[in-house]
Amino acid sequence: MEKQKASSTNFPGLRLLIVALALLLASCACPGPESTGAAHFKVVVIGKSVHPYWSNVETGVQAAAKDLGLRADQAVFFVPPTEDVTKQIETMETYIAQGVTGIAVAPSDPSALEPVMKKAADAGIIVTTLDTPPVDDSVSLVYIGTDNYAAGKVAGEKMAQLLPAGGTVGIGRGSDTALNALQRTDGFLDAIAGTGIETLEPFNDKEDAAQALELANSVLSANPDLTGAFGVYAYNGPAWATAIKEADRVDKTKLVCFDATTDIINGIKEGVIDATVAQREFDMGYKSVHLIYLISTQGQAAAFGKMDVVNGIIDTGVDVITQANLKAYQIQLNAKGIPHKWSTQDWEPEQDELDQWN
Ligand code: BGC
Repeated sequence: MEKQKASSTNFPGLRLLIVALALLLASCACPGPESTGAAHFKVVVIGKSVHPYWSNVETGVQAAAKDLGLRADQAVFFVPPTEDVTKQIETMETYIAQGVTGIAVAPSDPSALEPVMKKAADAGIIVTTLDTPPVDDSVSLVYIGTDNYAAGKVAGEKMAQLLPAGGTVGIGRGSDTALNALQRTDGFLDAIAGTGIETLEPFNDKEDAAQALELANSVLSANPDLTGAFGVYAYNGPAWATAIKEADRVDKTKLVCFDATTDIINGIKEGVIDATVAQREFDMGYKSVHLIYLISTQGQAAAFGKMDVVNGIIDTGVDVITQANLKAYQIQLNAKGIPHKWSTQDWEPEQDELDQWN
């Protein structure tokens, strides 16, 4: 105490200097992390379509904003109704004009989105991607999401286990341009190569649930002996499940899909969906906001270190779910505090499902 008192009275010049420096720092318009103080921070997360999968991403965005002490308007989430590259570009333009701190985007067409992503980066906006990877050499600093090729392979391996005698598999997906759809399909095809399983040409519903169902129905009626179906996007599993039930083929057509929204979990409980590769989309939303916040407040190197960015990627991982481990999966979600609208209470796996997967 004494020492402090002595210094403040004995060196008035020093005090003045400190006050002047503090005023200078407060008014400084110089670029760098300090210029994006928390009060001015704004992050925008742009998804691909209106769907419960993207609602889970939005929940992650909001949870991160809350944990970081941000106002609701500082973490904005947007999705077009169905796959819509033009709308994604327009939304990017709107927020570039606002001069937001960062934009995390899931590019439905990575080549089409790259120029506007570059425009944002050139304007000093932090640009990252989530769920769907960008082009090689993109301005996106980090991709936060699934390793889609590896996850597609896991799906293909599951299908091969389900169809030991081979067969014909239909493939439904929501895009012919988004890299996650293409990489999942490639991984799946590589995993089933040489197993005696053949595939039909993938159909594209452009992330339109009604289209997905219509296409699944028509593939099934054109191929009444279809032995397997693969759902690449979150819409596709439920679309196949409905078509398979309507065609009375639950025991004859094996179904492997992606994601773990309520309708997919219900399909697993019912036994119409045999396995699903659940992504961690809540984490994609949460980590996108968190990473952009850390970059803007602490700089890129510190942010990358804290968030374990490896080669420009945060791999959020997947969980493969069947009836055999559905209850364990729910326990895991509860332990991580990840909200979900389904429950396994009053439900037990069927014995033959347990035998098959255990
Ligand atoms: C994909 C997303 C897609 C969503 C809904 C998910 O499997 O990762 O890119 O938008 O399904 O179709």
